[in-house]
Amino acid sequence: MAKAQRNYVCQTCGAVSSKWAGKCESCGEWNCIAEEASETAAPPKGLGGGSRGRGRALPLVGLKGEDSSGIPRQASGIAEFDRVTGGGLVPGSALLIGGDPGIGKSTLLLQAMCALALKGARCLYVSGEEAVDQVRLRADRLNLAHAPVELASATNVRDIVATMEDGGAPVGVIVIDSIQTMYVDTVESAPGTVTQVRTSAQEIIRIAKKRGITVLFVGHVTKDGQIAGPRVLEHMVDTVLYFEGDRSHQFRILRAVKNRFGPTDEIGVFEMAGEGLVQVENPSALFLAQRQANVPGSAVLCGLEGTRPVLVEVQALVAPSPPGTPRRAVIGWDANRLAMVLAVLEARCGMQFSGSDVFLNIAGGIRIGEPAADLAVAAALISAQSGEPIPHDTVFFGEIGLGGEIRPVAQPSVRLKEAGKLGFSRAVVPAAKKNDGGGTAKGGDIKAAEIKVLQDVVDMYSGYRGGVRAMSPEARRA
Ligand code: TYD
Ligand code: MG
Repeated sequence: MAKAQRNYVCQTCGAVSSKWAGKCESCGEWNCIAEEASETAAPPKGLGGGSRGRGRALPLVGLKGEDSSGIPRQASGIAEFDRVTGGGLVPGSALLIGGDPGIGKSTLLLQAMCALALKGARCLYVSGEEAVDQVRLRADRLNLAHAPVELASATNVRDIVATMEDGGAPVGVIVIDSIQTMYVDTVESAPGTVTQVRTSAQEIIRIAKKRGITVLFVGHVTKDGQIAGPRVLEHMVDTVLYFEGDRSHQFRILRAVKNRFGPTDEIGVFEMAGEGLVQVENPSALFLAQRQANVPGSAVLCGLEGTRPVLVEVQALVAPSPPGTPRRAVIGWDANRLAMVLAVLEARCGMQFSGSDVFLNIAGGIRIGEPAADLAVAAALISAQSGEPIPHDTVFFGEIGLGGEIRPVAQPSVRLKEAGKLGFSRAVVPAAKKNDGGGTAKGGDIKAAEIKVLQDVVDMYSGYRGGVRAMSPEARRA
């Protein structure tokens, strides 16, 4: 028999090398390489014949199946959870839920399992981190102790697979909390290593696909917010969800970053309360709740998260900088994007930020990724610089190009409608394209100022105090 070979595997990116090193050649991370036994014996010598014979020809099928009525889904009834999964769990699919420790992954999944179990599905909850009594205690606290969820505390994949394969009624959904605690006893490496995580997940997914069981894996994340160790895991599952939120804030966001059965970028918003996670039906109202009137440097962005418009407050502070390199600090947005907006304001609109520290914050702790936030950020910066507050009832969206032009973004009318619903009456938006038909920013009773260049926004909010000549857009046109 071939001697088991030792490999050195990067615990961050999964790259395999034949010798140990302090730094991974492939991802550049330090101190992340661990020795692991390789999973397979000698590789097959050519697949044409050999002792195992030729392979079987695969039975090929067409694109259209007999039953093309769409994907059957199990909705939990927790609307925010169902929305993110694309309308409910697809039988036989594998999901991965990542998030910081203590953010509420176990709570969310226990609540979802209870909801599904109460609807009649057979749900198993396997915890490798907590004892059965601890899970029970949590269910008690959530007032869900009556739900017929079946619990187990286990870490050996062999036992879990056996449980999935037999024992009465077919299993509908299984939660593995967490995949980093699971191990396959034929693999030598410790639980949590890339090889163990990958083999454990592979084994569980294989049985789940065979039996039509939905698997929900909990995955830990590292300091920099990636699913710990195995990025490989993200490729093996059908759906990757991130549960995020600022621990100092009450609300949590469940975000789909990959979904083979539904849209990505969809978010579900929850609030961590005394009795578990409570759905937030109107997140914009929550994010804007603390907004102050008449403060310079505050602009409201009408963003889009998945199919859902979300209003958030963008706050900017421009402060005199001590000699040296001025500081640029960003929370909740991309620092490179801020640098770009600042550069455009300086190069195209004649503003000066080089002697000032600039701080940017998306209030409430949410992270914004879309470029449509550019215009709100620019408006907040202009207002912070000039000391002129932006009117309280104004929202912004639009992308800024390097030439200082304002570019249209997706779904302007959906955004305006949401802003109108929340009581905003003015909007500063990109001018619609000529042949855009219904795509123009017509949003009920909102007065939308359509602008083409960033200079227009500078003129609107730089006032007389900022030293820049102020001129209203009406005056410019006249
Ligand atoms: P948990 O689901 O254990 O987090 P994870 O599995 O992601 O590590 O959540 C733990 C946190 O949630 C803990 O700090 C306490 C808090 N919590 C509440 O505030 N209310 C509740 O009803 C529950 C169950 C937890
Ligand atoms: Mg947990």
